[in-house]
Amino acid sequence: MRLFVALQIAAEVRESLAALIAEFRPLAAKLKWVRADNLHLTLKFIGETESERLDAVRAALAELRSGKPAELQVRGLGFFPNARWPRVFWAGVQASDNLAALAADIDAACATLGFAREKHSYSPHLTLARLESTHPTGALREAIERDEAREFGSFWASEFHLIESRLKSAGAEYTTVQSFPFVSER
Ligand code: 2AM
Repeated sequence: MRLFVALQIAAEVRESLAALIAEFRPLAAKLKWVRADNLHLTLKFIGETESERLDAVRAALAELRSGKPAELQVRGLGFFPNARWPRVFWAGVQASDNLAALAADIDAACATLGFAREKHSYSPHLTLARLESTHPTGALREAIERDEAREFGSFWASEFHLIESRLKSAGAEYTTVQSFPFVSER
């Protein structure tokens, strides 16, 4: 099974991003646009995992805590790795410091189980579309320039989710395996 860990985004933010996708999609129809109900904030991509290891993954994730909920503001648009060689079209996320700490803790917990560590430092974003660098993006880039600082809302998160991804021809299908509240109770 293919697993990853993510935060779900608040309904209002999802709706504003769905509106953006509906508006921008006609500008670059060849891109693989993410379905609005599939939008999520990835904390850690675990990858292909034997189902016998699932309980160990769950147990490791269940230990993780942060002192407070994470605060997230969704603002701005851009490309990874850059506009010249775009692979991912994203909405930006500004998060309280405990989010990167949580992502690092999840990475470390997975590493103790033998999963590969993340190579890059954590850079929170919401993937809106995936693309090949050969896809024409001129009209999309112009629209982004006009809307570079667009705000999509903010929210608090106090749980993360272990999600199974099944790759289908119509796009990925995500199923939540387990949700983990991460705020310490006093
Ligand atoms: P991203 O969209 O936030 O960039 C599920 O596949 C999620 O895991 C994706 O949404 C993607 O995050 C993230 N991910 C990170 N590394 C990946 C990889 N090597 N292959 C597939 N997904 C990856």
